[in-house]
Amino acid sequence: MDDQTSHISIQTLAAQASADHETVTKELVAPIRMSTTFLRDPDNRYPAGHVYGRTDNLSVQQTESLIASLEGADEAVLFSSGMAAATSIFLALEKPTHVIASQVMYWGFRSWLCEIGRYGHHVSFVDTSDLDAVWAAVRPGETGLFWIETPSNPLWTITDIAAIAEIAQACDAVLCVDSTAATPIFTQPLSLGADIVMHSATKYLNGHSDVIAGALATARNDTLWQRIRRTRAHLGSALGGFDAWLLMRGMRTLDVRVRRQAETAAILAARLLGHPAVAAVLYPGVERHRGHDVAVRQMIGGFGAMLSIRIKQGDAAAVAVAAAATLWKRATSFGGCESLIEHRASIEGEGSPCPGDLLRLSVGLEAADDLFLDLHRALAVAA
Ligand SMILES: Cc1ncc(COP(=O)(O)O)c(C=O)c1O
Repeated sequence: MDDQTSHISIQTLAAQASADHETVTKELVAPIRMSTTFLRDPDNRYPAGHVYGRTDNLSVQQTESLIASLEGADEAVLFSSGMAAATSIFLALEKPTHVIASQVMYWGFRSWLCEIGRYGHHVSFVDTSDLDAVWAAVRPGETGLFWIETPSNPLWTITDIAAIAEIAQACDAVLCVDSTAATPIFTQPLSLGADIVMHSATKYLNGHSDVIAGALATARNDTLWQRIRRTRAHLGSALGGFDAWLLMRGMRTLDVRVRRQAETAAILAARLLGHPAVAAVLYPGVERHRGHDVAVRQMIGGFGAMLSIRIKQGDAAAVAVAAAATLWKRATSFGGCESLIEHRASIEGEGSPCPGDLLRLSVGLEAADDLFLDLHRALAVAA
């Protein structure tokens, strides 16, 4: 962040993003930059530093700079997906590195980490909400990376970022936080001591279920960060100009979207708590949630818009509830304007820590009463 923008709130930065410095028409909204290549000057130089589209695209760079501002980061880089962003960190590590990772996390990335041995690293999956367990998993001289997701998919477990940052510092290790569900509006991991923050920008940053993208933002432009940048260039996993532009457009309303979604999620969580068909409501905003106290400290202004419910009547009833909902759409992913319901165990498959009676709810922008009524009707199927 430069000095001029450091005092401006992230709401303002996001709302006014997309301003271009185009001098001919003075258009307010930046154009979509699509060129894959750039003219050299007669003296053979590239005066703007733009050489080739795989590494240089102004729409991508403008969107990256907004993400860096939102996260209070030194720099941010965009990738063609959240998976490309996350895996790039591991591909940029020195070999061999011992990694401590959250036991409960996005299933797709966990399954990639299970094969990390092929890339010369080792991983220990730990309940990162338990600091003693994290300390016990440390291998002095070998542990080089902590990977935490908070709130974590699909149980919405909370990990104390500042506490893990202290452990990582004591081990001289890097701390990366998948902050997809928290969004930069509710949590800023770099300000709590994390080194790199990761987002599946496919979710809330975009917010309209029409872009697959990933983002990393760093506290400092160090050797690891330079390797991550080179990895993106070598693997060709950059985002395209059109997707970056859509992502920028989505982020302009990020603040208002996620605050409204989180408010609705809190209302639904409160109503579902006493529901006769519901055995448990997993939402960090609920006082009896195991991570509530830490969430109160590190999630400022809201607890996010993701929650899960466990259905008293068991696995088949959970599938039946999802089938009976009409406003809640049966689909994977989250963070869009429309609410989604998903029987997570069906998608996570064999070995998943997700209970079979769990339904994951991504709360969108619909009216809370409409969403509750639809779910209430669907739950009656199970009761
Ligand atoms: C928390 C989290 N991190 C990372 C990813 C991977 O992101 P993408 O689907 O954009 O590759 C997902 C995808 O669902 C996710 O939920």
